[in-house]
Amino acid sequence: MIFQKQGPLRGTIAVPGDKSISHRAIMFGALAEGITEVTNFLRGADCLSTIRCFRQLGIDINDDPASDRIIVHGKGLYGLTPPKDMLDVGNSGTTMRLISGILCGQNFPVSLTGDESIQRRPMGRIMTPLTQMGAEIESIRGNNCAPLSINKTKKNNTRLRGIHYKSPVASAQIKSCVLLAGLYAEGETSVTEPSLSRNHTELMLREFGADIKSMDLTAAITPNPHLTGHKIQVPGDISSAAYFIAAGLMVPNSEVIIKNVGINPTRDGILRVCKQMGADIRLENIIDHGGEPVADLVVRHSELYSTEVSGSVIPTLIDEIPIIAVLACFAKGQTVIKDAAELKVKESNRIDVMVDNLSRMGADIIATEDGMIINGGKPLHSAVIDSKDDHRIAMSFAIASLMAEGDTEIRGAECVNISYPNFYSDLRKLQIL
Ligand code: S3P
Repeated sequence: MIFQKQGPLRGTIAVPGDKSISHRAIMFGALAEGITEVTNFLRGADCLSTIRCFRQLGIDINDDPASDRIIVHGKGLYGLTPPKDMLDVGNSGTTMRLISGILCGQNFPVSLTGDESIQRRPMGRIMTPLTQMGAEIESIRGNNCAPLSINKTKKNNTRLRGIHYKSPVASAQIKSCVLLAGLYAEGETSVTEPSLSRNHTELMLREFGADIKSMDLTAAITPNPHLTGHKIQVPGDISSAAYFIAAGLMVPNSEVIIKNVGINPTRDGILRVCKQMGADIRLENIIDHGGEPVADLVVRHSELYSTEVSGSVIPTLIDEIPIIAVLACFAKGQTVIKDAAELKVKESNRIDVMVDNLSRMGADIIATEDGMIINGGKPLHSAVIDSKDDHRIAMSFAIASLMAEGDTEIRGAECVNISYPNFYSDLRKLQIL
């Protein structure tokens, strides 16, 4: 797909529903008794993988796009039934890691796999705590990656044990996986992380009736709650809004309003970093959806200055670092991003892929062990960009190309389908031609 430099972006858009919250609404709805009704669900490939997996596990899920409602007919904590085939999570790390926690609590064996990218991503990080809880979970190829098999020998009919797990990484996927297994364990299960990762699992499970407590960096869950179906209105995804925030800030004379964006403090690091960089972003109409704060964002073109992005803010903007790297190319001075080694194990190695592609466009950027250093102010020019089929890379470069002379070609551009199927048409809506 070819992209060109653009004049101001103006207008109002609503980004699609939050990916993390959409996944959880299906999963927790399946484990609850009765009906869960989900509106503004993200119909991206990753969340559709979650629906597909739970249908294979015997859950009826009706999707009616006309009424924008997904109805999950939950069967309670012990209502899942053995799938006929291997579960396929596609490209979705969230599906793979969270569902593994749930599946370790079932009394049937199951295997799960995903696409080429998921088969390279580390699963040892969930296998370690789940094994400590007494689960039988194995990497079929013995490389700590998918495909995984759970409860293969069926000798493991005893219940899981509650543990206190000190996670070496701040990862909501690890935390959620362990807490979900904790629903089926004997005794309390708790997870402490080095810095706080997104807390959607804690907030939503509590809404469904779970006894789950959060104290600083620790979340603890009591097993066997009675979960009841719920109405969930999914807020717009701040990770998707991030591309239009960046475009509005970078392209001269732009003013963009992004409606209904989730601004949970464990996800809003992008707003904090942009403000440090001098961004003009206003929050309006702040409301609450089931413990999740939501606001409209008004973003105006701004003169940007460099900053340091490090420490506890990293988990609150981990998926936004590619687009922050693009912003840093247009900020005065040197931006340092560190403590972000997790980027290497996302859908692609996002440190190498961003540094490689931005260098091709003429940016002054180098990779470090745990991040990157960007000297802003060098004009970008067109290049051929390899997205490595990573949705966040493709969207970041579609935005970078708005500021680059010439024709920028993005290879594999259609991978935006993973988290934002209408990304390109929403971008076109904001362009004044
Ligand atoms: C997610 C957590 C993050 C994030 C991913 C979604 C979630 O991963 O990168 O896109 O929904 O829990 P980690 O928890 O592994 O950092």
